[in-house]
Amino acid sequence: MKSEILRILRAANGYFSGQQLCEIMGVSRTAVWKAINELKAEGYRIEAVRNRGYCLLEDADVITQAELQSMLHCKWIGNRLEYFDKTDSTNLQARKLAEEGAPHGTLVVADSQYAGKGRRGREWDSPKGVGIWMSIILRPDIHPLRASMLTLVAGMAVTEGVKSLTGLNPMIKWPNDVVFQGKKLCGILTEMSTEDECIRYVIAGIGINVNNEGFSQELSRTATSLKLEKGEDVRRSPVIRAVTEAFEAYYGRFMETCDMTLLKDEYNRALANAGRGVTVLDSGGQYEGTALGIDGEGSLLVEKKDKTVVAVISGEVSVRGIYGYV
Ligand code: BTN
Repeated sequence: MKSEILRILRAANGYFSGQQLCEIMGVSRTAVWKAINELKAEGYRIEAVRNRGYCLLEDADVITQAELQSMLHCKWIGNRLEYFDKTDSTNLQARKLAEEGAPHGTLVVADSQYAGKGRRGREWDSPKGVGIWMSIILRPDIHPLRASMLTLVAGMAVTEGVKSLTGLNPMIKWPNDVVFQGKKLCGILTEMSTEDECIRYVIAGIGINVNNEGFSQELSRTATSLKLEKGEDVRRSPVIRAVTEAFEAYYGRFMETCDMTLLKDEYNRALANAGRGVTVLDSGGQYEGTALGIDGEGSLLVEKKDKTVVAVISGEVSVRGIYGYV
């Protein structure tokens, strides 16, 4: 009911009669009044004026179930939505739901995580109320070896979503960190469960620093947030909407060929590493080269000093900038 009220009040763009709200939703005036009070307690500013009705004065930066249900406009992402004020990790929760049979597109969002997971077994700092910590359950019918490309798709979705909403122009550090002027705005952790060479599910976990005002000493050299870059608060639910919409579009393009053929040019335009020196660390050791861009398989093409070009496969190596993080 709260998500419906939010949707109606936003569309009204002014006052909307309480009586009509009751009629549309088939509930009593007391029920509407109660829901309005709950929304106010969550942070929305709603004015009630006699004979005119209710008016949503200001959207609050909340990402509750009702807020997200009223904001999301996707075809399949978020048809099932699970919101947590606080959880261990949305990737862990998504995995649990996937094991229980949750459908393709299930979206798990948390306002804070106390055991947020980063790549390579690292922790992911996920403080309350300032970030987007979310995971999408995917059930693509592709070979497991192709699944790492979905992290590139997720990186593109965040880059495009953030750009369309904030006007900032973030780039991608291969394979999937979203960066702004060399500092990390978003990390992506993709996990997969397979059986007999088939994908059971993939969890695309996305962490975006939105209204963080600072970071620990360890992170401050390499991390940033949308607020720090824009110089103003950014509401999270419109960012979630923009990112999930972009994700659906890029995922659709990816599934046409089950590789990056149709997306690679756009990916390469957003690639922060392009033309820059990189150090590649793989199981065989370490070498330096210049990043050229990705190929249709999502591998990073790196030109070594002897001019030979190596296709570096994501997931197997770590790529670092020679002079810094990118
Ligand atoms: C990285 O190390 O760059 C990946 C960070 C991924 C963080 C996100 S936040 C939402 C989801 N849940 C997690 O526990 N991790 C991912």
